[in-house]
Amino acid sequence: MIIVQKQFKRILVTAALPYANGKIHLGHLAGAYLPSDIYVRYQRSMKRNVIFICGSDEHGVPITITAEQEGTTPQAVVDRYHALNKSAFEQFGMSFDNYSRTSLPLHHETAKEFFLKLHGTAVLKEKKDKQLYDAKAQMFLPDRYVEGTCPICQNPEARGDQCEQCGTFLSPTELLNPRSKITGETPVVRETAHWYFPLGDFQKELEQYVRDADKRDGWKENVLKYCRGWFKEGLQDRAVTRDLQWGVKVPLKGFEKKVLYVWFDAVLGYISSTKDWAQHLGKPDEWKKYWLDDSTKYVAFIGKDNVVFHCIVFPAMLMAWNRHSNEKYILPENVPANEFLNFEGQKFSKSRGWGIDVDEFLAEFPADTLRYTLTMNLPESRDADFTWKDFQARVNNELADILGNFINRTLTFAHRNYGGKVPATPNFDRLYRKGKGATDDALLIEIGTTADAASHHFERYRFREGTQDIMNLARFANKYFNDNEPWLTIKQNPERCAMTINLCLQTIRSLAILLEPILPFASATIWKMLNLKGSPSDAGWESANSISELKESHHLNQPEILFTKIEDTMIEKHRSQLPIMTEPKSSNSTPPIHDQH
Ligand code: 2FM
Ligand code: ZN
Repeated sequence: MIIVQKQFKRILVTAALPYANGKIHLGHLAGAYLPSDIYVRYQRSMKRNVIFICGSDEHGVPITITAEQEGTTPQAVVDRYHALNKSAFEQFGMSFDNYSRTSLPLHHETAKEFFLKLHGTAVLKEKKDKQLYDAKAQMFLPDRYVEGTCPICQNPEARGDQCEQCGTFLSPTELLNPRSKITGETPVVRETAHWYFPLGDFQKELEQYVRDADKRDGWKENVLKYCRGWFKEGLQDRAVTRDLQWGVKVPLKGFEKKVLYVWFDAVLGYISSTKDWAQHLGKPDEWKKYWLDDSTKYVAFIGKDNVVFHCIVFPAMLMAWNRHSNEKYILPENVPANEFLNFEGQKFSKSRGWGIDVDEFLAEFPADTLRYTLTMNLPESRDADFTWKDFQARVNNELADILGNFINRTLTFAHRNYGGKVPATPNFDRLYRKGKGATDDALLIEIGTTADAASHHFERYRFREGTQDIMNLARFANKYFNDNEPWLTIKQNPERCAMTINLCLQTIRSLAILLEPILPFASATIWKMLNLKGSPSDAGWESANSISELKESHHLNQPEILFTKIEDTMIEKHRSQLPIMTEPKSSNSTPPIHDQH
């Protein structure tokens, strides 16, 4: 519940940094990226000072494993996926102000500075621990890189962190006959020293932070539920260093062979990407306004598997820094995490070939058709599903038959009957129709209220509902066109006909503004068809309420087809390409805590 509405001067929006270890798929888009892009585009249209920060997360064990499997270097792997994902995001219409990467020296410096601050102020604690070591590969083995026999049920294929047969949680040193998954060798036990962050010392402050931010900005129930669960269990010390080669080197003598734990450096990637943005802008200190000034509102968009790191770990790191510095970082005002999107009823799975990557999808279908379908299926409060049939229905029945049809028939009519100009309505007051149904009255109310109704939802991170409100305006206007029968009134009551077409054209302009966050490409095309200058967001969200922006006799451009219908054969082709599934269907699961990277 929102109790206090603080006035902010600017907004900082981040979207989770995707791993540069594979291509992004539709599930990623529905989790963090599309919602954040809609939010940012909407805020820009509201004329707010907002920056949008992202980049590639380029560390972690899976990247080194990919490199080993391909016989290449981790740098080559991240170079490839950074370029692929950056380009896929561009094609999808993501409007990041900066898309950086954590392998940049600027990022390494930022992460080291943070580590040294927490080390120098004795926040971090050193602990010695016994871990399995692969002498042939010359590396310690993070839990899932060891297999062995379960000491409880004798399953010979138990993993270092858990036996899947009996469900017991294990530590690698408990396995009988352990073997390295990298070389197959029997690992030895070796002592190793690591630095730990004492999360427990911050628990009270974290609980207060989550309560206060929720009061001000209304956190999602699912996010609060996860936080409460972790607080109830009690926060434990977490190691922030790892025995690996690839990553940000631990900047301490005697620790040269260790790197920072990928999550410790990844969250700092938001800060280094903002610094990178400021440098490109030619104002290297500009990042400070966004991170070190509490009149900035910080919103961190993520998927549910990242909640613990953004609501607990990252805020605790910032609190630790703030305790020991005059420069105080702001904490996320909200962490609107989405649940998961499934694909045809199953979890996305690269290894099982289930799902579709963004670049493949966009090679066949326009980005706006995907943006719309995903928006209408966002997993905002529970897991959701993408299906080819639903995609086809959304495109054909909603984008083409309602939105596209309304715009096309109005512009075509204006060209046929008014020489491609906005018809005049000199007797507006006399002709103005009140009453039930799709009257002028009712259409004006729709135009005058839709922007506020959608704002109400967008400010609360409810993008599906906000978009439904906007599409209802298109639906209403399409019905208004039908009910007013301009093809008859053009002869029988020309003044009435001019009024109808004028109002329909004004509605099209409003729709271009309101749909820009969802359908940026179509919205730009509509703007061009209306022959308007600048962009819909230059005109601004609030001007979508107006019915007098398109002046009488303003010249219109020729209509173009906005959305092409998708044939059954296209959908059948994709459905028939799905592999036969043997695995159980996915369920609404709690988020796993991926911290073995
Ligand atoms: O889950 C992931 O894809 C992580 N790479 C997200 C990192 S978010 C932030 F910490 F960088
Ligand atoms: Zn077992």
